[in-house]
Amino acid sequence: MGRLIKEGLICGWGMSMVNTELIERVQSITPLTAVQNIYSMLDRDYEKKVIPYCLEHNIGFVAFSPIASGFLSGKVTTETEFGFDDVRIWVPQMKKENIAANQPVLELIQQYAKSKDATNAQIALAWMLKKYPHVVPIPGSKNQERILENLGAWQVELSDEEFMELDGRLSQITVHGNRRDVGFATEYID
Ligand SMILES: NC(=O)c1ccc[n+]([C@@H]2O[C@H](COP(=O)([O-])OP(=O)(O)OC[C@H]3O[C@@H](n4cnc5c(N)ncnc54)[C@H](OP(=O)(O)O)[C@@H]3O)[C@@H](O)[C@H]2O)c1
Repeated sequence: MGRLIKEGLICGWGMSMVNTELIERVQSITPLTAVQNIYSMLDRDYEKKVIPYCLEHNIGFVAFSPIASGFLSGKVTTETEFGFDDVRIWVPQMKKENIAANQPVLELIQQYAKSKDATNAQIALAWMLKKYPHVVPIPGSKNQERILENLGAWQVELSDEEFMELDGRLSQITVHGNRRDVGFATEYID
């Protein structure tokens, strides 16, 4: 990657699902431009080390699954059936028992959505946009209406007070089906 940058073929490079140990190793060879790890209101493990590390070292943090595979929109329920080709059949938080157990997160978001005249998904995105200057969420959707809805999150402005309250209340809620709890890709979390 360093050679490609030197030759002007690429401007920068990134890695996905990496922990600080690996990031530090590669930094000494060819500094990273961006890291793409899972991050949402339901997946906050990387707040501890990777996100602060990236901020300190001028590395962009690209948050994938920022709507927690659709859960944070409130449109996924215990009645939702995923097709055989839908990757969400493998996502621990999409199991019916975890969808039910994580409802307190959704109830919290709904309060803000109501008061800000926004959708749940927009609040979930606005929260991370407010929280960090270097975090860029990449919500995924095959639906034009939802793509536009998600883009609208940039217009949802949480005041410092609203953000602090939301973030504080969120931290008090226990999240169920975290990948770490079910031993899913835990080697990359730290
Ligand atoms: N680096 C990696 O290892 C990695 C892993 C996973 C994903 N990714 C990338 O990350 C991006 C997003 O990941 P993701 O798809 O897991 O993210 P996500 O945005 O958390 O979840 C996407 C799911 O939520 C639904 N959704 C999105 N916006 C919605 C809204 N406003 N209201 C209701 N439902 C909504 C979508 O359904 P509809 O399509 O029906 O709207 C889709 O099923 C993709 O570009 C993907 O390629 C990277």
